[in-house]
Amino acid sequence: MAISYDEIVGKFEKYIFNTYTRQPIAIKRASGAVVIDVNGKEYIDCVAGIAVNNVGHCHPIVVDAIKKQAEQLMHVSNLYYTEQQALLAEELISLTGMDRVFFCNSGAEAVEGALKLARKASGKKAFIATEHAFHGRTRGALSVTHKEKYRKPFEPLAPAQFVPYNDAKAIREAISEDTAGVILEPIQGEAGVIIPGDEYLKEVREICDETETLLILDEVQTGFGRTGKWFAREHSGIKGDITTLAKAMGGGFPMGAMLAQEDVANKFDRGDHASTFGGNALSCAAALANISVIKKEGLVKRSAEMGAYLMKKLTQLDKDYVREIRGKGLMLGMELSIKCEDIVDKARDRGVLLNCTSESVLRFVPPLTITKEQLDTVVKVLDEI
Ligand SMILES: Cc1ncc(COP(=O)(O)O)c(C=O)c1O
Repeated sequence: MAISYDEIVGKFEKYIFNTYTRQPIAIKRASGAVVIDVNGKEYIDCVAGIAVNNVGHCHPIVVDAIKKQAEQLMHVSNLYYTEQQALLAEELISLTGMDRVFFCNSGAEAVEGALKLARKASGKKAFIATEHAFHGRTRGALSVTHKEKYRKPFEPLAPAQFVPYNDAKAIREAISEDTAGVILEPIQGEAGVIIPGDEYLKEVREICDETETLLILDEVQTGFGRTGKWFAREHSGIKGDITTLAKAMGGGFPMGAMLAQEDVANKFDRGDHASTFGGNALSCAAALANISVIKKEGLVKRSAEMGAYLMKKLTQLDKDYVREIRGKGLMLGMELSIKCEDIVDKARDRGVLLNCTSESVLRFVPPLTITKEQLDTVVKVLDEI
């Protein structure tokens, strides 16, 4: 039995925590790069559930894998072995070049695991993070998330020092004998798609090696082809000691992971960390299918190509309120000299879903399967607005 938009919103207002600002549409179905609301209106989706639906919404191979797995085994906890977790672990280790994986359910949970591991492995307590960084809303992840508004009501948090992003020297100066690790996004997402200089990550890696400080790369938003590489760290050729994944990992199914190099991973002993749902058979089957689609459809390469296409089209817009267009692959930010919420509203009315971050940056993170025609429509709508 379907209920109307007004009834849905009424129940949200009555029963659900008031923690989100939501767009005034209720979504009923989605396929590829198109979502359809309860009134049957279609939208081209440039948000993809915030960089989640990289293979497109409800990809038939992912849907089929979830259906088949759900009929066989969904969840048994980590008290037992399952085939799906074994196979996914092997696949992730091969894709990331890390040595071991811990499975969890979200980005924040992956970051929590990373911070705990860095503390245990180093025997130290403090972290260095970057200005405007976003790593999640749980207490540890919030400690290394920069925005004052998110942090203030929940202080005291874990000890962390924030240094400017894209400034390796600032990291060198901040490292002290209390530093357990440095955490950063290889491309900052929530901050407004901030791309560091070509040498930044390499320099940070060198500094961490020299000072024997652990480097945590948070690839929650940049993973699984989003930036035109499997993982954004590949643009600079370095690896973290620890890395975090989530968002696009399960093809729309909630899933996260924390991976580490062997010499760090082996500092976690039995009982040091756990998650009831982490890596259950259903989520692992979804992630395995998702990875197979990214490979089969060449979506990493496609992300690079379609990203370059969108970048070129956006650049041709030639509007005086566009300050800068930047990005890698299909992770693009268009910084405006005006606030962008109004543009998001007008685009939605015209059938395009956009996301605004850092007040004045339009962030484009569509499914990597989006077509040139769909991107042309997006740019045409923006031009009209
Ligand atoms: C880089 C990064 N890390 C961590 C998170 C937190 O992920 P989640 O919302 O799944 O907890 C996000 C979410 O946007 C993110 O972009």
